Amino acid sequence: MDLPFVPYRIKVVERVKSVTRERREELLTKAGYNVFSLPSDSIYVDLLTDSGTSAMSDAQWGAMLQGDEAYAGSRNYYDFEETIRDIFGYKHVIPTHQGRVAENLLFSTLLTKGSVVPNNIHFDTTRANVEYQGAIALDCVIAEGLDPMIDHPFKGNMDLDKLGAAFEKYGDRIPFVMITITNNSGGGQPVSLANIKAVSEFCRDKGVPLIFDACRFAENAWFIKRREDGYAEKSIKEIAREIFSHGDGCTMSAKKDALVNMGGFLCLNNDVWAQEITNLLILIEGFRTYGGLSGRDLAAVAQGLREVLEDDYLTYRIGQVQRMGAQMQERGVPILFPVGGHAVYVDAKRMLPHIPQAEFPAQALTCALYLEGGVRGVEIGSLMFAGTDPDTGAPTFPAMELVRLAVPRRVYTETHLSFVAECCAELMAHGERLGGLEIEYEAPVLRHFTARLKPISGQLIRD
Ligand code: F0G
Repeated sequence: MDLPFVPYRIKVVERVKSVTRERREELLTKAGYNVFSLPSDSIYVDLLTDSGTSAMSDAQWGAMLQGDEAYAGSRNYYDFEETIRDIFGYKHVIPTHQGRVAENLLFSTLLTKGSVVPNNIHFDTTRANVEYQGAIALDCVIAEGLDPMIDHPFKGNMDLDKLGAAFEKYGDRIPFVMITITNNSGGGQPVSLANIKAVSEFCRDKGVPLIFDACRFAENAWFIKRREDGYAEKSIKEIAREIFSHGDGCTMSAKKDALVNMGGFLCLNNDVWAQEITNLLILIEGFRTYGGLSGRDLAAVAQGLREVLEDDYLTYRIGQVQRMGAQMQERGVPILFPVGGHAVYVDAKRMLPHIPQAEFPAQALTCALYLEGGVRGVEIGSLMFAGTDPDTGAPTFPAMELVRLAVPRRVYTETHLSFVAECCAELMAHGERLGGLEIEYEAPVLRHFTARLKPISGQLIRD
């Protein structure tokens, strides 16, 4: 029997409507070839993100009915704080309404113009929040982590030579180092505990704190349990505790591994920073025992954090992603290898070699997937990351040109995901008919969210 064990059953369902290809074509044109501007009820399988899209459990919904909505001192906050301290082990727990607010609070307090923040790879909003402070977001992932074809069990690892070089070049302009677990922009790839320990020792030696971007910490812990020597017998919680014991704090988007639709937090050991940030929190988010969330939201996060540590849950969840990736590979679709924890990343450079990076091959593929199958993924390529060289003014392009198909937690069946693999295989079969895109409008920051594009030849897929 090689069917997986499914650690839940369905109690509530949401209707999905069938939409014709003609209608999708109209909607895509209206959306300026940007899938962020599509109405979600025109989508069959929505793999835009695994963020805030989880199906909550009956226990989470039950906990929400017991929200204590007191302005100050809600009992849900104390449970939230205790649950987080139990897993993450940090002294101060500051609630926020999502991950990027935790980042913004930290960065606006600790960064100044010219500061430098090394990370394995900064996620897009993290990078933007660093740069918004006039600071430099420096990616220091190992070389393997930038090559979609190299097999490596921990492609999210930090390159200690790159980190050392960063300290040599920037010295005390670096107020802290970050590690993103799992490394989202590099394919949802895990970081090993050996690497975390080495970076931690390096940071302690330099007297600089280490902060985790912890969104998908449980998925990262699952990979450590499966792939790293000495961890097979440890529980996910024990591994998570060990990870965080090597750092000084974390930012967390609870919309991922806390299995909720909204929420986040910042943890810190440093009393002075925590105090300053709490003052800022009260100014922009809310009082320190709710930080932009309702009492019931805090309750759902606490329960979600308990559920995400279950090995059965993680095995099935990561298994779904792995099976979808394997189906694509069997059909010859070029994907980032090995498949990570939350998403399959299609390699648009290899799938559409005839479209240059300046014409957004991964965005063209993202649009084609919607047009062909009503499947929504997201571009992680030149629309998201291309820039200009500050010295020469020449255009710069990211190393990888990817379409991320992120799987929401506990939402889709194997049938939905097989359909997605099938759509990718169909597109692969007539990839040469796809053409590139050009930009009609772009915002000065985070342009991929609102850009409007159009097919250069007038048609995305040639007849
Ligand atoms: N860090 C990482 C690694 C992320 O993946 C995200 C969000 C954030 C920080 C910000 O968290 O959305 O709660 O403010 N990633 C989502 C995604 C949006 O689709 O990958 P947030």
